[in-house]
Amino acid sequence: MASARGEFSSRFGFVMAAAGSAVGLGNIWGFPTQAASNGGAAFLLVYLVVAFTLAYPALMAELIIGRHAHANAVSALRQVANNRGQRLVGGLTGIVGFVVASLILSFYAIVAGWMMAFCGASLATLSGAEDLAAWLTSFSLECNLLSMAVFLALTIAIVGKGVNDGIERWSSRLMPALLLTLVLLVAYVLTLDGALQGLKVYLLPDFSRALAPDLILKALGAAFFSLSLGVGTMLIYGSYLDDRQNLPLVGGMVTAVDIGIAVLAGFLVLPAMYVALHNGVEIFSAGGQLISEDTLIFTVLPDLFARMGLAGSVVSLFFFFLMGIAALTSSISMLEVPVAYTVETYGTGRKQAAVAIGCAIGVVSAVILLDFADLFGLVVTLTTRYSQPLIGFVFCIYAGWIWHRDKLLQELRKGNPEVASGLFWKIWPWWVRFFCPAIILAIFVQSLL
Ligand code: TRP
Repeated sequence: MASARGEFSSRFGFVMAAAGSAVGLGNIWGFPTQAASNGGAAFLLVYLVVAFTLAYPALMAELIIGRHAHANAVSALRQVANNRGQRLVGGLTGIVGFVVASLILSFYAIVAGWMMAFCGASLATLSGAEDLAAWLTSFSLECNLLSMAVFLALTIAIVGKGVNDGIERWSSRLMPALLLTLVLLVAYVLTLDGALQGLKVYLLPDFSRALAPDLILKALGAAFFSLSLGVGTMLIYGSYLDDRQNLPLVGGMVTAVDIGIAVLAGFLVLPAMYVALHNGVEIFSAGGQLISEDTLIFTVLPDLFARMGLAGSVVSLFFFFLMGIAALTSSISMLEVPVAYTVETYGTGRKQAAVAIGCAIGVVSAVILLDFADLFGLVVTLTTRYSQPLIGFVFCIYAGWIWHRDKLLQELRKGNPEVASGLFWKIWPWWVRFFCPAIILAIFVQSLL
């Protein structure tokens, strides 16, 4: 069955695809800006702790259930269930997961579209087409619609090709390119005046802020979004893994790459902000808050790049290209959730499913763009703040309470016969049973208050 539905051909391919899903706008923009406005190194420290203690165990829950069932989240949770009630809840959770994944993609495609538009604008500037560059950075409705549509079309094209030819091949190419671009940009930015101050903010922790409760909760939310948890993305990717893989190890690799890229991006964005400050760009309000956290990237950075003259256009081209790549390897993992469900449940062709669902998501994105002020924030909050933790909670309950411990062990043994005597098996089953659900519930309750 597994081969008919596609399978990652190597551990490298899987790690690249799963890390590609995890690494996205959340890491390269979300994490560094949140770190900048929440005590720099203090946030970094808390983020590292919650990513390993909470996000990694939750990721493992998804990967193990997925690999066991070799199916989409709806069928997988139903397979793990022991009675009708559990099957019903499992199926419903899977369905909510794919709706949420689609909604996340609908706002993600808009932001990713901006990245591509800004990338195109740098190219236009370099070739002397100033008018085109101005239009591409205008945020006009036409431009927003067009760039969103182009981005979605790319996502559809890759997902339509399937696991090996699409997702795995492109992730394995794009992820190393991303890493290289990031490293080059960091090296460049660190040579500029003002960069050192940003580095200080990033690396010297303010411990009084590290222990603030809302900071811990923010870091948790960031880690969950960053590892693509709570919609079934990682469950689906786990389902394309073959039985020989040692799950705790590959899951650890994905977590390490995700966190590593976020931390690396911090070395770019924080110094870049202080370079901008050094050059006279306002980045903090009088109260010391970062101005407009979410759009900072489209105001501060282009301004910074513009001051660098011709070199700036080249750097800008690279930077937004990088953001586009990161977004694309993430968006394919979002579209894969509803597409896999449709293909496996209704026997639809993969291409048709990708096109139909992708277009439907495009319509939702267009509606959001038409009433941006009201809808954008609403969809972001609804999906990332409420739905993701709640569904993640259900995944942990299914892995920790509903699924038989012996079957869980059997699944892990496939890729690692000695797993029962290792540290992972001593800690994780209890951890995902008590610790993870309790803390996720705490996030949810807190976000309701
Ligand atoms: N993790 C990605 C990022 O940091 C976004 C992402 C991809 C995602 N797939 C997801 C977020 C599924 C939530 C759910 O940008």
